[in-house]
Amino acid sequence: MALAEIKPEQVVFSEKLMKRIEELKSHFPEGRKKSALITVLHEVQDEHEDWLSVPVMDKVAEVLGIKPIEVYEVVTFYSMYNQKPVGKYVFEFCRTSCCATRGVEDLMEYTCQKLGVGMNEVTPDGMFQVKGVECLGACGYAPMLQLGDFYHEFLTKEKMDALIDDCRAGKVEKLSKV
Ligand code: FES
Repeated sequence: MALAEIKPEQVVFSEKLMKRIEELKSHFPEGRKKSALITVLHEVQDEHEDWLSVPVMDKVAEVLGIKPIEVYEVVTFYSMYNQKPVGKYVFEFCRTSCCATRGVEDLMEYTCQKLGVGMNEVTPDGMFQVKGVECLGACGYAPMLQLGDFYHEFLTKEKMDALIDDCRAGKVEKLSKV
């Protein structure tokens, strides 16, 4: 079945996810449940292989009692939400001022070459993806990248080699336990 043919009611959120969404909604008064949207989208994305399809976004709108366009607006604005399938390990390099002046462009190019992909492309094995994002607020630790919930700082080519090896060996955590 094509994605566009899937209706929100055919998308199933796990019991655990629905419980978490209800808990998040409970922090806001009636008529203001939209305020939970950003956090809800993170939780939903975590449960859906790190990306948000249109039917999944429509389901989010349904459970929050808001219009689908209100979900699309947020998902398309923030780079932390993915609208297409992504690699298992997404290297989100900060390409803003401090990181740029400390060689992030070279590092991104090096990483892409090493992995045999262009920017934003997923490696054929589905393991890696390289993205450029705006300042991640760790300017004093430039150049840096975000991988899941964690920052990797003062990057060098050698550190990228080690990080890629560790990812391949399954030694890298993406999600914090908090
Ligand atoms: S400029 Fe890279 S984290 Fe701020």
